[in-house]
Amino acid sequence: MIRVIVVGNGMVGYKFCEKFIAKSGQEKYQITVFGEEPRRAYDRVHLSEYFGGKTADDLSLSTTEWYLENNITLNTSELITDINRTEKTVHTHLENACPHKIEMVLARGMTGSADDIPKIACPMHKKTFSLVDGSNLNGDDYKIATYPIKVIENQVFVGFID
Ligand SMILES: Cc1cc2nc3c(=O)[nH]c(=O)nc-3n(C[C@H](O)[C@H](O)[C@H](O)COP(=O)(O)OP(=O)(O)OC[C@H]3O[C@@H](n4cnc5c(N)ncnc54)[C@H](O)[C@@H]3O)c2cc1C
Ligand code: FES
Repeated sequence: MIRVIVVGNGMVGYKFCEKFIAKSGQEKYQITVFGEEPRRAYDRVHLSEYFGGKTADDLSLSTTEWYLENNITLNTSELITDINRTEKTVHTHLENACPHKIEMVLARGMTGSADDIPKIACPMHKKTFSLVDGSNLNGDDYKIATYPIKVIENQVFVGFID
């Protein structure tokens, strides 16, 4: 399986996916899309019509089901911060990548604690990381980034100390 990463889920990013899956031979590709915005691609050209009564769903270019049916993994609210063409890796502001095999799945792992240290286990091969300092609790030489946060009325702000 060849992995294709699409950065941006705007009108062009969406159209790329639509045209790509219509091509023959696309079965050997796995598309993963990263969009910074919290919603799926929408019709930006007709955005002003939102104020004339159109809803977000009306303006949306597709449905969540469309991505599922076409085996496209869509990650919204996730900004690509780094593209490494040599290593063929990408990083996002959420640092959702597990450093073991660079699978973008860490946030789907189970949380718990070990010796009172809050931890997260990657769902792929169960490598486990401290949520305090990001160190690997299996003794491997992997580390994840950690950031200060603050919580205000159920909203989590990342990168704020006070
Ligand atoms: C009000 C308005 C009216 C317009 N009217 C017309 C018109 O009449 N006719 C016409 O042809 N064009 C029109 N345009 C322009 C048209 O909307 C744009 O040309 C088109 O949206 C460009 O599509 P795009 O996917 O390249 O970029 P965008 O729509 O800008 O989408 C890019 C997406 O990528 C995301 N992104 C960017 N960087 C990252 C990153 N590092 N990681 C993850 N996500 C990222 C952004 O958040 C965004 O969602 C209009 C635009 C506006 C705003
Ligand atoms: S990819 Fe996460 S443990 Fe292997």
